[in-house]
Amino acid sequence: MSAVTVSVPAKVNLQLAVGAVRPDGFHELVSVFHAVSLFDEVTVAPADELTITLEGEGVGEVPLDRSNLAARAVELLADRLGQDPAVHIHIRKGIPVAGGMAGGSADAAATLLACDTLWRGNTPREMLRRLGAELGSDVPFSDLGGTAIGTGRGERLAAVPSVGRFHWVFALADGGLSTPAVYGECDRLRAEAGVPVPEPAPREELIAALRAGDAPALGAALSNDLQDAAISLRPSLADTLAAGTAAGALGALVSGSGPTCAFLAADEDAAKLVARALEESGTCRTTRIAHGPVAGTKIRPVAPPA
Ligand code: C5P
Repeated sequence: MSAVTVSVPAKVNLQLAVGAVRPDGFHELVSVFHAVSLFDEVTVAPADELTITLEGEGVGEVPLDRSNLAARAVELLADRLGQDPAVHIHIRKGIPVAGGMAGGSADAAATLLACDTLWRGNTPREMLRRLGAELGSDVPFSDLGGTAIGTGRGERLAAVPSVGRFHWVFALADGGLSTPAVYGECDRLRAEAGVPVPEPAPREELIAALRAGDAPALGAALSNDLQDAAISLRPSLADTLAAGTAAGALGALVSGSGPTCAFLAADEDAAKLVARALEESGTCRTTRIAHGPVAGTKIRPVAPPA
């Protein structure tokens, strides 16, 4: 086999309930992950040594050395399978970099599947997800896709049934936010307020809205415990959220640890109106329209020789 390409979607957290800090430094979470139609594409091919190239969204902001999560995925699986990790990884990025949409985790999930296919490892998907969890809390969901509740540090997954297609607008910001910094700010704000840290739990209204395919109810039930922390570090995000809400979004929230903001729209036409209003408001760098849920990692079929 000469090369394998895998596509992988971005995620938005429809709910991100953040609990107490655990002894390992991670926070106990309940996360309702939802995969949306912004994709990265990862191609791996045998090479003399492990190298990475990149095109698309955020080129220049992504490390091309061994600190890249995709490179770490190659090394982890190679070690497991007794393979030489000498591959070239090419990443076509459509997911915002450091945007709270699991772009790095998506690349790690895609790389694990691509290398396993290239090396004919036949590793069970469940095992690939378990390996993925060693690389990052969001990696198993990037592989699974759809809509799912994540517990623990977000890596233990249970699929959530949903009906129909939800329409989203994403407002992309200039520059990223550091995930550890946003969690740290969340802890700081909570300590300052002196309120007890709540036990994270899924919102019943949210799960019911997904099951019913009820977009207005879903919009009303969106929530993110990291939102105040992201806004505290990047106050302009409040203006972005207000602009999308004023344009008729059914719901608005910061995606994960931000700074990308997510807006739920009633349908595709409404999404276009929200996107245009956000761009005209000058409160974001650009927008993307997407829909969810979509499947997780997918091996792209090789075109037959001409
Ligand atoms: O697992 P991942 O590499 O995505 O996590 C990045 C950082 O986000 C962690 O180092 C930690 O600071 C924070 N985090 C956390 N609790 C979680 C998930 C992530 O504190 N459940």
